[in-house]
Amino acid sequence: MSIASAPMAPPKPIPALARRAGALKGRVRVPGDKSISHRALMLGLLAVGETRIEGLLEGADVVATARACGALGAVVERGGNGAWNVHGVGVGSLLPPDQVLDFGNAGTGTRLMLGVVAGHPIEATFDGDESLRQRPMRRVLDPLARMGAEVLAASEGGRLPLRLKGARDPIPIEYMSPVASAQVKSAVLLCGLAAPGETTVVEAEATRDHTERMLAHFGADIRVALHGERGRRITIKGRPELAPRRVRVPADPSSAAFPLVAALIVPGSDVILEGVLVNPLRSGLLVTLKEMGARIEELDRREDGGETVADLRVRATMLKGVEVPAARAPSMIDEYPVLAVAASFAQGTTAMRGLSELRVKESDRLAAVAAGLAANGIEHEIAGDDLIVHSKGRVAGGAAVATHMDHRIAMSFLVMGLASEKPVAVDDISFVATSFPGFVELMKKLGAEIG
Ligand code: S3P
Repeated sequence: MSIASAPMAPPKPIPALARRAGALKGRVRVPGDKSISHRALMLGLLAVGETRIEGLLEGADVVATARACGALGAVVERGGNGAWNVHGVGVGSLLPPDQVLDFGNAGTGTRLMLGVVAGHPIEATFDGDESLRQRPMRRVLDPLARMGAEVLAASEGGRLPLRLKGARDPIPIEYMSPVASAQVKSAVLLCGLAAPGETTVVEAEATRDHTERMLAHFGADIRVALHGERGRRITIKGRPELAPRRVRVPADPSSAAFPLVAALIVPGSDVILEGVLVNPLRSGLLVTLKEMGARIEELDRREDGGETVADLRVRATMLKGVEVPAARAPSMIDEYPVLAVAASFAQGTTAMRGLSELRVKESDRLAAVAAGLAANGIEHEIAGDDLIVHSKGRVAGGAAVATHMDHRIAMSFLVMGLASEKPVAVDDISFVATSFPGFVELMKKLGAEIG
């Protein structure tokens, strides 16, 4: 059965243009990590009592998750001091929502919350914007169906909008995830929280582990073992009583990537990015840029709220092309658009391998990046799932890039415009607010010309 309804009207497009100016200088902190913010709210909902979250990303994606937590029974409030408090109801005690859970542009919020709802005997309708309605949901619905959840209605291919009926008695399973996706892993683990016995997810390639870390932080019984060369085997014991916790959200490395690459390609730049999460499962971009010769120093590496953070000092560098192996993709999956921009300013060829997952992000990022490179005069090719950029260290620029409701495409090409010969325009920066509110202001504070 399908659920017919028109998506909410998208916000009015806001075009923007970036041009070359002087060197970027200064010390800034980008907003909180998006992945950790979603998870902190959801575990706050699933703990009994008051969880306090400092540094929560106040982007539209996370605000949608906060609202959904409210609709499922939590009281979610922003305190005067900027911290968020979540009064949770506990595993097994979610309320049936009396409104559609609208996740806007957010794949993470949707897929993780599908897992949460799947473990409870309630029904909920999930929806989102035009971009989210295109994105595959079967990858989470299939394992959740094995655990006893039922899709009552959905759009073609199991896409949003969809209505899910959670299981009264979820079945613990062992699931070998066919895609390297932290969202799939997390959905199964979150549903497993409500199941009696042990639920296991096996992943051939380790993906970001924030769900595992945060579940442990909230007192769940969770074990992680290595699996094969690069994989993990994660087991959660169901039906714990989660204890409310204090969470401090570090600065998002996927957002830091934009001023970071900008500082590398704008001559004379010297920038410090404070408190950035340097979890190895999120650090593929740093590894790659260092291989390209980037001058990036990690200052004051420290533990903060169960994660490792560092201040990153970044100085302009003439980069060189490198080979980026497919095995690195899970640790930098969101960073390829801005890496393609860095590669456009490098000397030589950068080959990025194994990017099939980029086709199912907020937009088809492989196509969107290739179109933006072509428009701005950068020689490149797509060979199967690989993107190969050939550069002589200079970018003509001068084009307008279509962003396809995708925040990271918008930010990546604005970064390009800061160092290209002619300015680069993007058709819409309204979606930047999903993950990086204040992006333009932060870049301007460093000396960028974006308007
Ligand atoms: C995320 C996982 C990744 C990433 C997304 C955030 C998460 O998606 O692209 O931005 O928080 O779990 P996949 O799990 O689909 O790779």
